[in-house]
Amino acid sequence: MERLQKVIANAGVTSRRKAEELIKEGVVKVNGVVVTELGTKVSGSDKVEVRGVALDKEEPVYFLFFKPKGVISSVSDEKGRAVVTDYFKGEPERIYPVGRLDWDTSGLLLMTNDGDFANAMMHPKHEIDKVYTAKVKGLADKINLRPLTLGVKIDGRITAPARYNIISVNPENDSSIVELRIHEGRNHQVKKMFEAVGLPVKTLKRDKFGDLDLTGLRIGEYRKLSKKEVSRLLNYKSV
Ligand code: URA
Repeated sequence: MERLQKVIANAGVTSRRKAEELIKEGVVKVNGVVVTELGTKVSGSDKVEVRGVALDKEEPVYFLFFKPKGVISSVSDEKGRAVVTDYFKGEPERIYPVGRLDWDTSGLLLMTNDGDFANAMMHPKHEIDKVYTAKVKGLADKINLRPLTLGVKIDGRITAPARYNIISVNPENDSSIVELRIHEGRNHQVKKMFEAVGLPVKTLKRDKFGDLDLTGLRIGEYRKLSKKEVSRLLNYKSV
């Protein structure tokens, strides 16, 4: 027996929190009867409907995707632009991205149909490290990057201390390549952090999420996560 909100979230319909709202709204039925009680437990033989549509029972699945640039981190786009789920047409589950990468950012993006997992990965308390490689305009050095290690103000709030590594500095074309490790996931965070220290981002790639990286994948490819990798992410401890 599982809690109703978990069953709805696991079916890939929505997150557990949203599922709770749906239950409270009175649009969820179990065996034909509206249920508004959050703790209700259901088993595999119970028929669950959300707004009159029966849940297909989906096994949770987890993928690591090498997102190309020029693709939206969404399941659909009203203007018909490329979205990340276009790359998963062969997978029967209703999967969606865990958080988002900007349209022009490439790199590691997790995809799942497990709403609880997605919420856990994005919850600030998990502090999962993400490592990005940014090509920036300007010459990076210890002095101009130092504020990133202390915290910079973006959208009125100071960022958590980040770690950086200068990969290369190219005075001929006034650009640098810098790796940045952060554990927050604010909107356009990396671009805004570099902007705040006067080094605007030209290209951005996410190389790591927790202890996962893109080894073995080419742009646009994906692979399944093993059970061990999923449980390591759920029990993640920063290095
Ligand atoms: N930070 C950004 O600015 N963009 C991304 O896509 C991810 C992190």
